[in-house]
Amino acid sequence: MKLLIINGPNLNMLGVREPDVYGREDYAALVRRVEDCCAAVGAECKVFQSNHEGAIVDEIQAAYGVFDGIVINPAAYTHTSVAILDALKAVAIPAVEVHLSDVSVREDFRQISYARLACLKTIMGKGFAGYEEAIRFLADYLKP
Ligand code: DQA
Repeated sequence: MKLLIINGPNLNMLGVREPDVYGREDYAALVRRVEDCCAAVGAECKVFQSNHEGAIVDEIQAAYGVFDGIVINPAAYTHTSVAILDALKAVAIPAVEVHLSDVSVREDFRQISYARLACLKTIMGKGFAGYEEAIRFLADYLKP
């Protein structure tokens, strides 16, 4: 089983960026947690981060026929990107949306998620553990 983990803009700034919202651990720590969890469920993984919408669309398209599942935190593009939604729908790879913070209790402009429309489920407000929950969910969902 091959899982693609996609992180959107500013998530590379974890640890520095609004630590009261996103925690004090850095992006490298998130990548380690994700890689360890994938290894624990017997999945191969690629962890990808970009600050650019088109690069994320390209990565989703390139996943077609290669990856079995996608965990995606589109970050700010969650609330704006029809292009990322369309890419997820185009490849139709089972996907789970993750957010570190609980966006449901934040600003009004964060209440729309386009990506969610192409995802099996959304996990939010659980910090790094949300990624682990998403990986375990997909591992179970994709089990032969
Ligand atoms: C985020 C929530 C988004 O609203 C925000 O723009 C982010 C991070 C989260 O993980 O909580 O960049 O996706």
